[in-house]
This record gives sequence, C-alpha cells and structure tokens, in this order.
Amino acid sequence: MQSNTFSGLFEGQNVITLQRVPSTNEYLKEELSKSTPLTEGTVIMAVDQYAGRGQKGTLWQSEPGKNLTFSMLLTPAFLDPKHQFMLTAAITLAVVHWLESVLGVVVKVKWPNDIYIGDKKIGGILIENILKGNQWKSAIVGIGINVNQTLFPDAIREHTTSVKQILHRDCQIPELLTDLCKQIGQAYFSLKAGRFETLLASYEQRLYRLGELHPFLVDGVKVAGVLDGVAETGRLRIDFNGHLVDFDIKEIAFVI
Ligand code: BTN
Repeated sequence: MQSNTFSGLFEGQNVITLQRVPSTNEYLKEELSKSTPLTEGTVIMAVDQYAGRGQKGTLWQSEPGKNLTFSMLLTPAFLDPKHQFMLTAAITLAVVHWLESVLGVVVKVKWPNDIYIGDKKIGGILIENILKGNQWKSAIVGIGINVNQTLFPDAIREHTTSVKQILHRDCQIPELLTDLCKQIGQAYFSLKAGRFETLLASYEQRLYRLGELHPFLVDGVKVAGVLDGVAETGRLRIDFNGHLVDFDIKEIAFVI
C-alpha cells in the first residue's frame, strides 16, 4: 500500500494506492464498517481492480495499470437525503468538465452517470450512499475512466472508448487523478452552497440524446420517446407524444 497526500479543497487529501483489490468501493465500505478513521476526501486508488462493480449489478472490467479506478469518501451530512441525486449530478458534472479539459471534445452523460464521447462510453460512476435513518453517514463515490487501455472485450468494444483512443498517446494516471479530485472538490463545495436548480439545469444540458426521439426498453417492451430531462429526484423524464412519464434506473434502459 502506498499513501500520499496532495493539497486541494480537501485539506491534506489522502490518496491510498492499492496494487490489487477486488473493488475500491467494497474496500472503502469494509474500512468504514471496521470504523477505520478516514478523513473526508480520502481516495482509494487501485492499480489492478479485478472485480470492479458497475451500475445495476454489472461488472466493471479494467486492464491492470491502465485506467483510473478509484473511490472517494464523502460525508455530505449537509444534504437532506431527499436530495441524494444532487450529489450524483455534482460529481457527474465534475467528471464531465475535467474530461473536457483533458480531451478538448464534448462530453455527455448517459443518464444517470455513464460518461460518453459521441456514442461511446469512456467511464462510469457508482455512488453508494450510506444512510442511518434519515441521516446521511457517508457516500462512496466510485469512478472508473478508461485511460490508456485500447483493447476491450468483444461485447463492449463497439461502444467503448478511452482517453488514449482519442488523444493517441499515453497519459499519466497519477496526474489525471490529482486534477479530477480537485474538480470533484470544487463541485462538492459548490454543492454545499445549495444552488440545486442551476446544478440540475447544467446536468440536463449534458444529457446524451436530450430532446431526441430515442428507443427505450420499458418492462421489456421497446418504446420510442423524446428524452425531456430529469426530475429533482433524478428520475428520467420521457415525452411520449406529449405525455410526460418519469422512470427510475430499474424501470427503463436505453436501446443502443
Ligand atoms: C458503471 O458504469 O456501471 C459504473 C462503473 C463504476 C466503476 C468504478 S471503478 C472504481 C469503483 N470501484 C468499483 O468497484 N466500481 C467503481
């Protein structure tokens, strides 16, 4: 285990680099359950994350040493749990802005927090909130970004990309991590200011397929609708011939 600190908005932010771990989200969760004292902003970064977890129980696969695979500990006690989606929106926008500065191309969000360049996924976010009653204890913000990997499994190759596939050169993972954490720190501190309407509007503007007629899978049935936006709760709003319906993540999927 290698530990170092860098100054940022989280004073003396601690980055713990693990050579090999099943999942940085799981590791952080286990440390919290053992009451290991960890300061807010602590980052667990994996060189080789061999059983990474994605949204909806999927696996997040990453070639050892090639990508950003890390989890950050946050304690957003200032947020009412009913505003959980605002944390998702703030973190997602931080990733979008950071990635645009790295790549110089437009970055979109496939709801709720897949990071897309054109029609290809470059990264994903898995935020796990730990609540006690109506009190927010902590949030584990897991982020995976394809950086120097250029070969992907057959099943995802067509719809996947990486920083290297866009810039045609290798990038330094520790430097990218430092910059991304700074961006997250800034987003987190503006979240504390509580300007939810502005945050939601910026998030909506970044939505992949916003305003477009697109096929979705609802209860196993393929239906076409226009992606209209998201509610404050984070539910996706679709316009079916002028009739607005909103969905949570388990109720709808994009047909690609
Ligand atoms: C998704 O796109 O489905 C979310 C992917 C999230 C992957 C990251 S990698 C670091 C952290 N640890 C995990 O096990 N998952 C997240």
